[in-house]
Amino acid sequence: MSQIVHLCSKNCSLIIKLARVPEILHWGNKIEQIDEDILLSTERPISQARLDVDVPLSLCPELGSGHFNAPGIEGHRNGYDWAPVFTTTEHYSSEGCAVFTLRDDVAHLELKIEIELDYDSDVVKKRISVTNLEHTKYYLTKLSATLPLPHHANELMTFHGRWSREFQTHRQAFSHGGFMQENRRGRTSHENFPGLFAGSNNFDQQNGQVWGFHLGWSGNHQLRADVKSDGRRFVQAGELLLAGEVRLDYMQSYSTPWLYACASNTGLNGISDRFHRYVRANIIKFPENKPRPVHLNTWEGIYFEHDPEYIMKMASEAAEMGVERFIIDDGWFVGRSGERSALGDWYLDEKKYPNGLEPVIEHVNQQGMEFGLWVEPEMISKDSILFREHPEWVLELKGYHQPSGRWQYVLNLQNQDCFDYLFERLSELLTRYNIAYLKWDMNRELVQPGHVGRPAVNGQTKALYALLDKLLATHPKVEIESCSSGGGRIDFEILKRTHRFWASDCNDALERQTIQRGMSYFFPPEVMGAHIGPDESHTTRRCHHINMRGMTALSGHMGVELDPVKVASEEKQAFAHYIALHKEYRQLLHSGRSFRLNASDHRQHINGVQSDDEMLITVCQLAMPDYALPAPLRISCVEPGASYQVKLVEMPETSFQLMKQRPSWLDKTLTLSGDNLREIGLTLPILDPESALMVHLKRI
Ligand code: DGJ
Repeated sequence: MSQIVHLCSKNCSLIIKLARVPEILHWGNKIEQIDEDILLSTERPISQARLDVDVPLSLCPELGSGHFNAPGIEGHRNGYDWAPVFTTTEHYSSEGCAVFTLRDDVAHLELKIEIELDYDSDVVKKRISVTNLEHTKYYLTKLSATLPLPHHANELMTFHGRWSREFQTHRQAFSHGGFMQENRRGRTSHENFPGLFAGSNNFDQQNGQVWGFHLGWSGNHQLRADVKSDGRRFVQAGELLLAGEVRLDYMQSYSTPWLYACASNTGLNGISDRFHRYVRANIIKFPENKPRPVHLNTWEGIYFEHDPEYIMKMASEAAEMGVERFIIDDGWFVGRSGERSALGDWYLDEKKYPNGLEPVIEHVNQQGMEFGLWVEPEMISKDSILFREHPEWVLELKGYHQPSGRWQYVLNLQNQDCFDYLFERLSELLTRYNIAYLKWDMNRELVQPGHVGRPAVNGQTKALYALLDKLLATHPKVEIESCSSGGGRIDFEILKRTHRFWASDCNDALERQTIQRGMSYFFPPEVMGAHIGPDESHTTRRCHHINMRGMTALSGHMGVELDPVKVASEEKQAFAHYIALHKEYRQLLHSGRSFRLNASDHRQHINGVQSDDEMLITVCQLAMPDYALPAPLRISCVEPGASYQVKLVEMPETSFQLMKQRPSWLDKTLTLSGDNLREIGLTLPILDPESALMVHLKRI
């Protein structure tokens, strides 16, 4: 059927109708065969008191053809050519991808719409480019990727957050009007993670049809979900362009970031499974195929107090606990005695390190660990040599006061000299020292980001990508962590050139449970930096037993974030225990299918990861249990006909406050059938608030 393009993946179909403009007829469960009559059966009536023509919800909806909701493209040429209407001139499609070229010969614009459906993961990715075909400049104010949703997508789950409280979720009805998120912070941001879910009524972790979306972009963005007054609904995402930010000269083009999306029949678990598969196969590029090393990061241990002898002691203790990569955080470079100085001066502070950094690195390496170093390349302090030499490198708008953030300013990466300086500094550090890992931080937002007077978030974001790309091309073995006051820059596009995220500055294990769960819908555990912090959290002052801290850190890319020299030996043994547990299961954790189970006690998180023959399930009691006895753990994702060996891996030793007698199976290995585990379940011990247990299942 030539008027239809049908893209298929393992479980999904994307059916696109070719008319004046391409329009998605179906995106969701796989349709094996398309009926001859599909064009007739999907033809819409025309309602009274509206336009006399049908208005398609196309791959780039146009205001000019009567789409009165958010158009996919907006712009003008000195006030003209502001309502383009396109006609498809060419299209190409192969099994998993389609490209459409559309033109407007009045406004002299060309659109290229690329859409791909990845066979293995069922993830769709879409992007649009616009080209100016005329000699007068075209001022683009918006170009976004739009994807339709079916009428039974009735509920939304969106994200909000702030520093130390990333990835918080919010549910709302999706029946009239919609949801709009605009991020103008110049980085992905803690506040506006560029992702959302829409789904059928009451969709949850395990049930319901859900559609998930994520815009892979680390700058400003706009994300919306809208219900039209005719009931049709859609999600739209693109870069948020500041006034005048994109001006296209003759034959110049602008492309949107990629919008990633997927559809699931099995609630949020199906979504995360698809995103994780896609990310693992297409986004993450680890330089070596090796287990993710366990970290020790010095920040919460010593902050700015750097004494090489002491740091070496920390390293020895770390190695004894089983740490595999030791990272010196902020405070190592010349003049960096606190937050207010030295950013930009990427030279070793020889007062703090009179014998250089080499002896420390050698010591770390001798203990069998890799060495990592913290940097914050995009920033400059006023109190720095760099600022005294190059005040003009600050990203600002001349004539206005530029506010500081954490007492620092942003460097203009589009300034070639500044870009070259940063590349030279970082490259020299990586050449001179045996550095396996950079923790790349970014601790403030962009305010009035001007490059030669014009808005520069787009340019700054692309220049950051270029700097990372150039550095990785020169030092292909180095790994980089994306940190931005914790989780302020977490997205698929930065992940193409980094290898781990610092999920949050909040190391309070209870808060981390929620943050990590929100992040886990999009990102697999091997890129989620999760550390055991001191017993008293430095951001909340809440105290947690090592069980809660260890179990919470264990399920991501694990690390420790404290001073091991100051910790009592009993506590150190406990760290070693959780590190060993992590290592025992990290192959499964970092390659298996992650899932979450609906807990009948809403004060519990039940998370799991499974391969074809193993499964690990963590039950975390977030607050006082709802009832005196916990509900049985019913595991829906086992094979009904299979048998499993079930054993407890871990539970808090001190958990005898609420429970006076343990179920006797805790000390045994059980053999249970899939049917039993699904339907009857496993009786759990009573967990005290803020504690967690772990169960392992092996298929026999
Ligand atoms: C903010 C980061 O999120 C922390 O982990 C730490 O690296 C500090 N910056 C250092 O200044």
